[in-house]
Amino acid sequence: MSGKRILLIVGGGIAAYKALELARLLRKADVAVRPILTRAGAEFVTPLSLAALCEDKVHGELFSLTDEAEMGHIELSRSADLVVVAPATADLMAKAANGLADDLASTTLLATDKPVLMAPAMNVRMWGHAATRRNLATLQADGVTIVGPDEGPMACGEYGPGRLAEPAAIFQAIMAALAGPAGRPLAGRRALVTAGPTVEPLDPVRVLTNRSSGRQGYAIAEALAALGCEVTLVSGPTALPAPAGVVRVDVETAREMLAACQAALPADVAVCVAAVADWRPEAAGAAKARKADAAPVLKLVENPDILATLSRAQARPKLVVGFAAETHDVEAHAQAKLARKGCDWIVANDVSAPGVMGGETNTVAIVGRGGIERWERASKTDVARRLAARIAEALA
Ligand code: CTP
Repeated sequence: MSGKRILLIVGGGIAAYKALELARLLRKADVAVRPILTRAGAEFVTPLSLAALCEDKVHGELFSLTDEAEMGHIELSRSADLVVVAPATADLMAKAANGLADDLASTTLLATDKPVLMAPAMNVRMWGHAATRRNLATLQADGVTIVGPDEGPMACGEYGPGRLAEPAAIFQAIMAALAGPAGRPLAGRRALVTAGPTVEPLDPVRVLTNRSSGRQGYAIAEALAALGCEVTLVSGPTALPAPAGVVRVDVETAREMLAACQAALPADVAVCVAAVADWRPEAAGAAKARKADAAPVLKLVENPDILATLSRAQARPKLVVGFAAETHDVEAHAQAKLARKGCDWIVANDVSAPGVMGGETNTVAIVGRGGIERWERASKTDVARRLAARIAEALA
């Protein structure tokens, strides 16, 4: 994204502080950010913070002689590849929808010939008001991309939709907008991703589970979504937030995971990353087992194999990908697993080195029927991005 330019309009709302984090993410990705801070916005964040994070001068006044001499507002409105409004207040949305131009931000929005992305943030009742609904519909019809708002508790004490989308989600939407159609090769495709551990109850308070963090699966869901894919992430319990733009279905047991996967079909691709418990206790006790009782003997029964079931499903996704964490004979085991499970690729993962399970990096090989592709050690995010790109190629 190096060389791309954003004009970032920061409106007046309590969420304006999140625009600072957005600016930081954009600068980290080497995107140039030129900020406009509205008068109301300056009540919430200071021009100094915004200038420091954007590493550029903050523009604020329409009738500033100095600013107009340096760069007129018309030029400012066209000096970027994309205009981003975050937070987009009800007032800014209303002005933009109706073509009002009584300050620098609204004038710039009227004068620009560049695509516009807005991330609304306002009180839940303001968001639900008929006037805002009308303005939103007008803006969407005018081709403005809308990100969020999220639902949740609000600074004003109410609850509902109206919270600014998380900076990471706005950042992703900006990246997609800057990349254009070429950056969304999976648009119109559906993916199913399983992630995290499963949890099998022994009794109402005890469980059998494993150490999977869910990181690799979540990163894959996020990377697929970033390429425009509609993603359902079926996840066992993890400490991770749902990636932006991904529908997460929470499950605990392997049987729940299978049912959620089957409900998410049809899909173009399934990527099974979850560490599914191979066995579960034959019967989970209805009451808590007591220490005074004799030490229990666990009888385990086999869980359904989700990857194998999806590979042989009637509505089989065109591409089914499994993961295999192995400590030795990695590729031989992966090849055997490919045949046994009936999937198209196994992403074989060498976990013999300490710190890989639950860690940040992975060394993988893609084992398919046609051969093996060995990838060098990379962060789980990079492995995810590369795999998502390979999936896009395979589905093209
Ligand atoms: N998997 C699954 N359902 C299961 C077990 C595994 O969907 N009940 C999937 C995992 O998500 C992973 C792949 O199968 O994509 C391989 O998992 P692994 O545990 O390595 O396979 P197993 O068949 O359990 O083989 P092993 O004998 O090595 O344990």
